[in-house]
Amino acid sequence: MPAVQTTHSSAQKAPFYKGSSWILGSLLEMEKDPAAFMERLLQSYDDVVRFRLATESVHLCIHPEAISHVLHDNHMNYDKQVFDYKMMGSRLLGKGLLTNDGPSWLKQRRLSQPAFSHKRINAYSSIMQRCTEDFLKEWQQKDGQELDMSVEMAALTLRIVGLTLFGKDLIHESAEIGHALSDANQMLTRRLFSGIPDFVRFMPLDFKLKKAANQLRNVVDEIIEERKGHEEDYDDLLSILMMARDENDRGMDPVQMRDEVLTLLLAGHETTANALTWALHLLSLHPEEQEHLSSECRTVCQGQVPDFQKTKELEAANRVVQETMRLYPPAWSIARRCKKDDEIMGYPIKSNSLVFLSQLVTHRHPDFWERPELFRPARFSADEIKSRHQYAFFPFGGGPRLCIGADFAMMEAVIILSSLMMEFRVEPLREKVDMELLITLRPKDGLPLRIQRRSV
Ligand code: HEM
Repeated sequence: MPAVQTTHSSAQKAPFYKGSSWILGSLLEMEKDPAAFMERLLQSYDDVVRFRLATESVHLCIHPEAISHVLHDNHMNYDKQVFDYKMMGSRLLGKGLLTNDGPSWLKQRRLSQPAFSHKRINAYSSIMQRCTEDFLKEWQQKDGQELDMSVEMAALTLRIVGLTLFGKDLIHESAEIGHALSDANQMLTRRLFSGIPDFVRFMPLDFKLKKAANQLRNVVDEIIEERKGHEEDYDDLLSILMMARDENDRGMDPVQMRDEVLTLLLAGHETTANALTWALHLLSLHPEEQEHLSSECRTVCQGQVPDFQKTKELEAANRVVQETMRLYPPAWSIARRCKKDDEIMGYPIKSNSLVFLSQLVTHRHPDFWERPELFRPARFSADEIKSRHQYAFFPFGGGPRLCIGADFAMMEAVIILSSLMMEFRVEPLREKVDMELLITLRPKDGLPLRIQRRSV
């Protein structure tokens, strides 16, 4: 196995992980098994480690101080001109918020931000409650069955994001969207790790990706088309986007509009669905935590699905969601490009080099977490949070590009998880569940669990 070598030159470069290939560096390791590769880097126990992906020099920032430097303290020096975002943009999301950069990103972010204000999030909670109640009724009919939680959670979170942000009920489209999204996620990841430049067409992978992208765009076009002429009647993100006017009183370019809606639709449900799926996996292995959540929800909500205010009081549920995202961060890595020569924790970073941050690595690092392999929600008690570096835990990123939907996602996850635990128990069916590191972190081959209704 290639070793981490410490360079002792006067430049004091960060330790270098040599990789298995002289020509491709660590590209093949990353492609073959990204989880194992990340685990190997984690074991280097360094603050910053260097490696090479073909011609790209990469610095992985492991220490929270280094992460804070890139995302927050010196964020102006790091942009998104990286392979991942460029490919995601050119193949699927265009110039939506996630893949956009520079002044155009700032303009769009300012435009969308009001849809995520405290007041709006509060208003969304009643839609989340309604969708969760419907979902519980469906589960009552499925009592005792084995269900794939990945599919179940994706359908529920898709319905919620469709109704809250775009006033559209996507209950009947969830299977189609789920398949197309899964294909796009797989194809994009394979394309990314293949090291083949974006301009080189790569059949049939590209064909499948294009088909999935077109399916998703068709759904979005339908959402926008249905709203035309009724913009004023709604108080949601779609109306904000449709009523926006620039200094020349021009509306948003239709392509930009489609990119924004598609980005929010995908980013706004898949990550939360993964967080909930992993939470149910962990809870299925820890029945005592299930009982704890169930009794907390009964006491605080008296048998009702929680609303916005109540989610704040559901401390155990909040901790379980956070501890889940520590162990299984739905967005497991963030990439940036360094614009001008910089220094991170004493190590020089050359302009144009790539910088990686990995939630999966830092969230499981023994220097920042005691017994990191254990599921222990109490790590997120107020006292323990205070004693840690803020960037030891960064499931939603940080700085100006912090996830716009962080509060939305936390509230949604707590509402859903508490309600499910209040009424059902989940039992594991597989001994081992592997991670699949695509653009998001999913359970490999889904997550079947058996649901059992509690006796009231
Ligand atoms: C558990 C759920 C979620 C997780 C773990 C998550 C994670 C993240 C992370 C790590 C980023 C930063 C990426 C970077 O800096 O390169 C991000 C950005 C973003 N997320 Fe989320 N997200 C979640 C839920 C949501 C929801 C519910 C929405 C919308 C309803 C959303 C919309 C976005 C958007 C639009 C961006 C780009 C923001 C910008 O750059 O201005 N996410 N998310």
